[in-house]
Amino acid sequence: MDLQTYLQDKRGLVEQAMADLMPGNGKLPPELDRHLEAMRYSLFAGGKRVRPILCLASCEAVGGAISHALPAAVALECIHTYSLIHDDLPAMDDDELRRGKPTSHMLYGEAGAILAGDGLLTLAFELLSGKLPADIEPGAQLGIINIIARAAGSLGMVGGQAMDIVSEGKEIDVITLREIHSRKTGALISAAVQSGAVIGGATPEQFSSLTTYGEKIGLAFQIVDDLLNVEGTAEQLGKAAGSDADRNKATYPALYGLERTRQLAEESVAEALDALAHFDEYSAPLRRLASYIISRSK
Ligand code: IPE
Ligand code: IPE
Ligand code: MG
Ligand code: MG
Repeated sequence: MDLQTYLQDKRGLVEQAMADLMPGNGKLPPELDRHLEAMRYSLFAGGKRVRPILCLASCEAVGGAISHALPAAVALECIHTYSLIHDDLPAMDDDELRRGKPTSHMLYGEAGAILAGDGLLTLAFELLSGKLPADIEPGAQLGIINIIARAAGSLGMVGGQAMDIVSEGKEIDVITLREIHSRKTGALISAAVQSGAVIGGATPEQFSSLTTYGEKIGLAFQIVDDLLNVEGTAEQLGKAAGSDADRNKATYPALYGLERTRQLAEESVAEALDALAHFDEYSAPLRRLASYIISRSK
């Protein structure tokens, strides 16, 4: 399996489903059209689509059909994109570049950006609670909604963001730093893997192993994001580089230095791969995705 081809194929599927599932094809007042345009602007600005692809790959790893996981995959990307729009706001990280383009608030103003985020978050739950393509039991569907809601909420992504913001300029210990990263980024990545597993019909043992896999790559993903912020350029990343140090953010490189940080990311990915030990060849994409997460250059 060639990972680049896999990523390209799955990005295509996810982006087609995103276009199909975005509301607002009918005639709407222009003021409302502008709001939907703001949602589309950020959603289609690019992005690696890592969370939706993990959801599809996890569904595939337990023998499920990828097409069954597409609405959940789109919902995950909506939540992620909302988190980026809000993360970039002046009151948060105050960034002007995202996915190689001006951030939402630069074009639509702060209120417009806040509302675009709100719209994407709410759309995600509309999609998750609507009709899913597979014959998923209502109980399983509710389970997926609960997994994603908890991961996106105050004990997951939002909570991690809250901890991140109040930790700016403060000395924090390694345990707290790991917790921030696991919540702000790890939780949604883990939920992507878990929801794909439920849609694919995972056994409890498979679900538990995939949960471990998701948590480990989720942490590694944010550690690498920290590394890229130090080592990358804005041109390469499509977002500001060096900004964590400027804002005195709590990061792995700040606490551990570059070399140890890379080791820690690699260790976390190795643990993720260990969790897949009992999976068959259908888990090949998940394995390759784990390696991609630490070797990526943006
Ligand atoms: C960036 O996420 C923010 C983090 C949670 C680390 P991605 O690196 O997945 O950003 P896109 O979606 O590709 O733009
Ligand atoms: C982003 O963390 C986490 C979320 C958006 C939930 P960062 O603030 O470190 O990510 P970038 O570097 O702006 O993408
Ligand atoms: Mg941030
Ligand atoms: Mg940021």
